[in-house]
Amino acid sequence: MERDEAKLRAYYGDAPSDINLDDVDLTRIPSHVSIIMDGNGRWAQARGLDRTKGHVAGVDSLREAVTTSVRLGFDVLSVYAFSTENWRRPQREVDLLMHLFATTLVKELPLFHQENVRLRFFGDLEALPRETYKVFQKGLAETADHTGMTFALAVNYGSRAEIVRAARLLAQDVENGKLSADDIDNDMFASRLYTAGLPDPELLIRSSGEKRLSNYLLWQLAYTEFYVTDTYWPDFTRWDMLRAIHAFQNRSRRFGGVVNK
Ligand code: IPE
Ligand code: IPE
Ligand code: MG
Repeated sequence: MERDEAKLRAYYGDAPSDINLDDVDLTRIPSHVSIIMDGNGRWAQARGLDRTKGHVAGVDSLREAVTTSVRLGFDVLSVYAFSTENWRRPQREVDLLMHLFATTLVKELPLFHQENVRLRFFGDLEALPRETYKVFQKGLAETADHTGMTFALAVNYGSRAEIVRAARLLAQDVENGKLSADDIDNDMFASRLYTAGLPDPELLIRSSGEKRLSNYLLWQLAYTEFYVTDTYWPDFTRWDMLRAIHAFQNRSRRFGGVVNK
């Protein structure tokens, strides 16, 4: 994606001691970065606050992450906001999250217009509360013509459910005679996933130190570089994004071969 370098430099401003914008190669910015936003609850608990306060604080980090991603010129930023397993949380927390998704999206629509950001969702939206579902559909409709960065929110998303759904969709096409089983290959399978048409993430960031995928993009992350930071999501800033990209640029990606970088 095109990037305005003057705007980017102004956005980054005063650097902390360990990292600055010149540490990253702007010609090798990953095109799709994905984030497992984790640690909201622990961030709040460490301050003696209710877990839900951590989710509210996490919204500010997400807004900053969207702006940072646009400034850096990502094609796609995707974030894991609510998993199919997160329904197991206390009802009060689930309700707060669903309400927060709806109110935040309404509030942030002007930002998406201003930055030409196109919205997208991964997950089964039908099962969401009506209020949240309706706001999501409005967000999709209102940003459908935007031509800048794609911002994908994974909500009620689970990778196993996504893969099973893709298999079912293909099986239906075979059943209806639209497809022959022999036609099914990697690309066709990928076209039935929620991520259809998007490049696989090149970089996956997980905050709060956990080293697991928690049922996120199992298919799409086959060759993705994984960066874990101990920082809790509400403390994640534009500088953490630079640290992650810096680490990514120092990896040797071989894709099973033997060439360096
Ligand atoms: C991530 O933070 C946000 C969601 C899963 C919605 P958590 O709520 O998982 O925070 P921790 O992991 O309990 O600290
Ligand atoms: C993964 O975080 C889901 C999201 C960030 C939305 P969790 O906090 O739910 O993951 P586990 O339970 O620690 O694996
Ligand atoms: Mg967590």
